Amino acid sequence: MLDGLGRSIDYLRVSITDRCNLRCVYCMPCEGVEWVDHSAVLSYEELIRLCRLFAELGVTRVRLTGGEPLVRRDLDRIVRGIRAIPGIRAVTLTTNGVLLSEQLPGLLDAGLSGVNLSLDTLDRDQFQAITRRDMLPAALAGLNAALAAPGLNVKLNCVPMGDNDAQLAPLAALARDHDMAVRFIELMPIGLGSSLPRRTEAQVLEILEAAYGPARPTGWAGGAGPGRYVTFEGFRGRVGFISAMTHQFCDQCNRVRLTATGFLKTCLQYEAGVDLKSLLAGGVDDGALRAAMEDAVRRKPAAHHFTEGRGDADERRNMNQIGG
Ligand code: 5AD
Ligand code: SF4
Repeated sequence: MLDGLGRSIDYLRVSITDRCNLRCVYCMPCEGVEWVDHSAVLSYEELIRLCRLFAELGVTRVRLTGGEPLVRRDLDRIVRGIRAIPGIRAVTLTTNGVLLSEQLPGLLDAGLSGVNLSLDTLDRDQFQAITRRDMLPAALAGLNAALAAPGLNVKLNCVPMGDNDAQLAPLAALARDHDMAVRFIELMPIGLGSSLPRRTEAQVLEILEAAYGPARPTGWAGGAGPGRYVTFEGFRGRVGFISAMTHQFCDQCNRVRLTATGFLKTCLQYEAGVDLKSLLAGGVDDGALRAAMEDAVRRKPAAHHFTEGRGDADERRNMNQIGG
């Protein structure tokens, strides 16, 4: 499906819950958040129906996010159901890893093709400071389980915030020792991310080159996302940068997002989109749903304006409702 600017949209990110077992500082306020009511969250049947319609419109890959998708009890059923939709070639997961080691076998059996694990530090105290939970050992068990799973595409996502400067080289070393991608994601000014310190791609690269020598570009695209990948002497895997602040990549955007409450979001920064859950509740047919999806996609904003401060049409949700 093409948007109004001719960009091909074939990738859907679906937040399946706003709940999470961590409280990362850039995602949730310290005092916690009020979870949305279960009845407001898309049911299994609604999720599958919407994903089928997206697939009919040309979506080929679906990423499940949260909150934390592993806290939703029917996750393996959701993976299996989406995987069975004609046209869907990959179903992947973005997770904090805490519950992954116990659930991975079932998810692999359901057809999961890849895991992106969010991990900002390998230091237990710092993990607790960033996530407000002492759960690094469980997250590492999840990472190791993912790395041990044959054929599973594993990526690690780290948000550099200054505090974790000393952890960037040790995290990158995971790509030296394993055939995986370790990616550094520039903090975006969305929700709580607006008020935190951040590091740029150039700053991270300087830290990594001081540890591992000059970075070599790779031709690897790492799927179809906006990541740019390099490697270092002696590395088995790759190091990636997702730098929405330094390099705006909106002209190549290939994605839309579905929030846990069924809002089709066409750009990370704006509230633009359509409330599909209310259309579902109104009992509309598939044709009307597809038309609403196409209409929202046609009006997908051209680009974010992260570097220019807030605007009236900007998103007010926190990341746990959007899913990254
Ligand atoms: N900017 C960049 N990344 C963010 N994440 C959460 N909030 C932000 C933000 N403001 C990341 C998490 C996780 C993914 C789902 O999104 O670290 O890797
Ligand atoms: Fe949970 Fe992810 Fe938000 Fe951290 S960033 S609190 S792991 S949803």
